[in-house]
Amino acid sequence: MSREMRVGVLASGRGSNFEALWNASEAGELGARIVCLASDNPESVALQRARDFGLPTCCVESSKRRGRLPREAESEIVTFLRSHAVDLVCLAGFMRIIGEALLEAFPGAILNIHPSLLPSFPGLDAQRQALEHGAKVSGCTVHLVDAGVDSGPIVLQAVVPVRDDDTAATLAARILEHEHEIYPRAVRLWAAGRLRVEGRRVLGADRETSRSRHIQEAKP
Ligand code: GRF
Repeated sequence: MSREMRVGVLASGRGSNFEALWNASEAGELGARIVCLASDNPESVALQRARDFGLPTCCVESSKRRGRLPREAESEIVTFLRSHAVDLVCLAGFMRIIGEALLEAFPGAILNIHPSLLPSFPGLDAQRQALEHGAKVSGCTVHLVDAGVDSGPIVLQAVVPVRDDDTAATLAARILEHEHEIYPRAVRLWAAGRLRVEGRRVLGADRETSRSRHIQEAKP
């Protein structure tokens, strides 16, 4: 039998995506096991929750809250992830641009979730960007991480209609429900070795995408 894939999570904030992944992992529905969590924010709720769950954690310090981590801090995270024999790294609200140390240590094995239909609205405040642009649909995207900002090959997406009375907060809340659904699904696909990257295209996820709840939501 093949070895169970081991997932390390990186999170800076409240950690609802981390908890969705954790719950799927605990329920045996992730096809992989979450084995550790690293953060760059000692105040992170995700970090506290991971400790509550009894997961090994590490928190790197940096004077800057955003942008790239200093190389030493990123290398510290790599050492931590390697010490837990991590196969796949999941970014779950990790407010950092991923640098060379992580990209070289985990080639093709870093996933991120973003609250828009990429390539539209990368970066911060994606839900507000969608609203202010007047988009009629937004959603969320799980993608492989490359050296850019939210620019790597797309694995799964879910569509969320924008309502006339939406605020950034109400739209974000509806998108978040879909994030919690597609992220575990993308990890399951990755862990099962079902994904194949050809240039910018990630193949092997189409049957999963058509099962997405966005089909139901899009019905009149
Ligand atoms: C989510 O909207 C995710 O898409 C984005 O950051 C937010 C993190 O939320 N990358 P949480 O910490 O997982 O609750």
